[in-house]
Amino acid sequence: MNTVTERPALLSERLKNETGELHELMHSLMERAQPFASRANYARFVAAQYHFQRDVEHLFADPSIRDAVPDLQVRGREAAALADLADLGASAGEEAIASQGVAMPEALGWLYVSEGSTLGAAFLLKEVKEKLGLSETYGARNLAAYPEGRAIVWRRFVSFLDRPSLPQSEHEAVLAGAAAAYGRFGDLLRRYFALN
Ligand code: HEM
Repeated sequence: MNTVTERPALLSERLKNETGELHELMHSLMERAQPFASRANYARFVAAQYHFQRDVEHLFADPSIRDAVPDLQVRGREAAALADLADLGASAGEEAIASQGVAMPEALGWLYVSEGSTLGAAFLLKEVKEKLGLSETYGARNLAAYPEGRAIVWRRFVSFLDRPSLPQSEHEAVLAGAAAAYGRFGDLLRRYFALN
């Protein structure tokens, strides 16, 4: 008799697996956008990043997301993106907050997309340094690692995702929030780079 009982997938595993296609879509949009071909192109990327980070940090005011992610003070890159735009002499443009009315558990999905993107940002930072001569302190702060280091801050976020206190019945809503956040970033990229 087979006595192995399957454990239910962790939320972090479900997010990675079930949003993998949306992540791939980001790759293909970035490929089409060519954000590192020039400083002018890169400024469009930073504007998109700024608005996305603003949407994400808008969620930080809600006490229920603070309970779910108790180290929010070290997260978020809105101010970094704004400082980068100033370095580049570019403006963010006007954009309504897209996360208005989003609350837990969906909010956690938005945060997942933003926090996960700090991992890929290591590769983007390298490219920006090489191709555009920018750095973590000038123009590319939004792609810099958090002071504690990317891996540590990411692993701690994953540990919050997988806390037993977040009931499994809420996982679907977190996944929906992640899909909405990817949708928002994709929409920003499409509009700021005039892709269709
Ligand atoms: C061309 C652009 C991008 C590249 C090259 C890239 C690359 C990567 C890489 C290599 C990882 C895995 C790192 C690891 O497992 O150690 C990763 C993870 C991730 N990236 Fe990206 N990425 C890009 C764009 C984006 C964008 C635009 C977003 C969202 C706005 C995003 C969201 C995520 C998320 C959520 C994860 C975590 C996946 C998980 O482990 O659950 N990425 N990325």
